[in-house]
Amino acid sequence: MQSTSKINRRDALKFAAAAAVPMVLPGHLFGADAPSKKITMASIGIGWQGGGNLGNFLHNDDCRVLAVADVDSNHLKEAADRVNKRYENTDCKPYKDFRDLLARKDIDAVCISTPDHWHSIPAIAAANAKKDIFCEKPLSHTLAEGIAMVEAVQRNDRIWQTGSWQRSVLNFRWAAGLVCNGTIGKVKRVEVGLPSGHSDFEKTGNSKPDSAPPTSLDYNFWVGPSQMMPFNPCRFHKNWRWNYNTGGGQLMDWIGHHCDIAHWGLSNAKFGCGPDDAIGPLEISATAEFPPKTDVWNTAGKYHIACKYPNNIEFTIAGGYKEIAGGTKWIGDNGWVHVNRGEFSASNPEWEKTYKAGKKRVEAAEQKFDFKLIASTNHFANFLDCIKSRTKTITPIEIAHRSQTPGHLGYIAAAVGRTLKWDAAKQEIVGDAEATKMLSKKFRAPWTA
Ligand SMILES: NC(=O)c1ccc[n+]([C@@H]2O[C@H](COP(=O)([O-])OP(=O)(O)OC[C@H]3O[C@@H](n4cnc5c(N)ncnc54)[C@H](O)[C@@H]3O)[C@@H](O)[C@H]2O)c1
Repeated sequence: MQSTSKINRRDALKFAAAAAVPMVLPGHLFGADAPSKKITMASIGIGWQGGGNLGNFLHNDDCRVLAVADVDSNHLKEAADRVNKRYENTDCKPYKDFRDLLARKDIDAVCISTPDHWHSIPAIAAANAKKDIFCEKPLSHTLAEGIAMVEAVQRNDRIWQTGSWQRSVLNFRWAAGLVCNGTIGKVKRVEVGLPSGHSDFEKTGNSKPDSAPPTSLDYNFWVGPSQMMPFNPCRFHKNWRWNYNTGGGQLMDWIGHHCDIAHWGLSNAKFGCGPDDAIGPLEISATAEFPPKTDVWNTAGKYHIACKYPNNIEFTIAGGYKEIAGGTKWIGDNGWVHVNRGEFSASNPEWEKTYKAGKKRVEAAEQKFDFKLIASTNHFANFLDCIKSRTKTITPIEIAHRSQTPGHLGYIAAAVGRTLKWDAAKQEIVGDAEATKMLSKKFRAPWTA
């Protein structure tokens, strides 16, 4: 990790201490010593995305899922049954408390797919328990938690993969590689288009009254380190992302995808301003339209964040602005490249032709690049391969943290209503005490930070 401010370093230590799981030795040692052994895994948080992640690990023969943890007993049972069906036995152990799961010495790695407010505590505890970790994006609920997570993973020398799977998809790699190799010249401007509004994933609407939590749920545990609020179905499974108590709205839901790709394309300092594990804005100005604070969904629906990056690069992140297309667009002094899910376009039609010709043509073209990006075609296999080789994954924690940073800072700039100056090396907001306070949140007892 880059050096941190005194405040952030202190926060980091507090977070690490809060993750009060005894340090244990890993169950198995992998790599050259034991290449034939399966990596033993467990899943923490098995809802929408966690279910998808679990399926990917269940269908990879390099690993074996031994346990699952969830605070909703319905999700927990469903997940354990699924694992047992896959392996045709009854061995999968369900846990309500992830700390009991982490205390097991026979588990090498965990997949964390809890809501955003529940990333940092289990991730730091898992790192302290010497597990390797696959964790969902955005890395953390607050920027200070992200700094603490990076510190814990580095201190414990863990392998980390982030759920920013777009890096393992061909059109994104081709786009970022073209930009890193100077085909559009020096990058002048980057546009990151994210969704706006709120998506009603659970068909709850935004106006249901508070009610009793479902009997399957330990609601106190589900709220965890966040502020206690009455149970409301509109801010529960999946829709928790539309309330700042537990999520960060569309901005933070998508920052770990398209901003992550934008940073990847800037990772060669010669044409961008990388490396992407240390990259960051110098200045951030933002506007956002927030619903009334009393609404169940209170995250910004429309937002515009204008950043200045090193090397005079203008970097805009926006949701709800037609002129900023969805996905990532880099504009250089010699052309442009745009990429989104299932889409690729560029100022030079040959680059699109190469993409449309398929994987082999892209790989042949990439051979000629001087600045080579890591190539992965399966995000889960990349994690498991890196556990064995003890090498960095395609989205290690340092990169995930830098990818989410402009989102956190953009939200803070909009909330305080002024331009922020950011020292990316120290990870400090310069000269703004009110904004600095918003880099972290106090954890609710008994969780401490
Ligand atoms: N990579 C992607 O494309 C992608 C897509 C969707 C969601 N996500 C991310 O995945 C994460 C989960 O999102 P989701 O939409 O699946 O949410 P969800 O509400 O559907 O599922 C979260 C699950 O975590 C459980 N949980 C909550 N607190 C817990 C705790 N302390 N211990 C154990 N389990 C706990 C919940 O009961 C639930 O089963 C989020 O960080 C989200 O941003 C990533």
